[in-house]
Amino acid sequence: DRRIKIAPSILSADFANFGAECRAIEAEGCDWVHVDVMDGHFVPNITFGPATCAAIRPHIKGVMDVHLMIAPVDAYIEAFANAGADIISFHPEAGAHSHRTLQAIRATGAKAGLAINPGTGLDAIEHMLDLCDLVCVMTVNPGFGGQKFIHSQVEKVRRLRAMIGDRPIHIEIDGGVTPETAPLVAAAGADVLVAGSAVFKGGSVSNTAPYGENIRAI
Ligand code: DX5
Ligand code: ZN
Repeated sequence: DRRIKIAPSILSADFANFGAECRAIEAEGCDWVHVDVMDGHFVPNITFGPATCAAIRPHIKGVMDVHLMIAPVDAYIEAFANAGADIISFHPEAGAHSHRTLQAIRATGAKAGLAINPGTGLDAIEHMLDLCDLVCVMTVNPGFGGQKFIHSQVEKVRRLRAMIGDRPIHIEIDGGVTPETAPLVAAAGADVLVAGSAVFKGGSVSNTAPYGENIRAI
């Protein structure tokens, strides 16, 4: 269905309470849980790896959407699949053999996604769409939550929607999604919106942040 899905990014959640944070956002009506894995090498920030994904998996009833911002990717696919990822996305900018990586992800039974940086053109993924279940258009440079939405990417989303045609591929938007920017990318053809700071707003389950209100506002 073309209803817009909201995927809160736990990058903006309370890192000491991931289990409770995941249960809270799902109870408040989010669709997917977006998990940002950063290695301090492909991106200038470090988050966590497969062990943390495995630990939070039992606290997520729905889709665990894992966004790998790591290089290399291939050596870790099995570990994230075993950790219970439903979708594993990675960056074609992270290596020379993305086509093979997509095949390797699908071979685990997980769905496969490509995430592209703001400076990367659609030509980088055009010949891999038949191996993709999702394309994530980064609307900030990856590495940190709370950055400003890059408006030039809206046109990229529009072109990607046309390029995909009637193939069953999700278009996910990641970075700077707010109640102001969400309608722009939805109109351009996106169907999954990642939102970190707009959902968590620096709050946490322990101070009863109004996650439901924030999710519905997007
Ligand atoms: C950025 C991450 C995003 C980030 C989005 O590198 O991939 O998922 O958490 O955060 P906001 O919604 O705050 O821009
Ligand atoms: Zn992400």
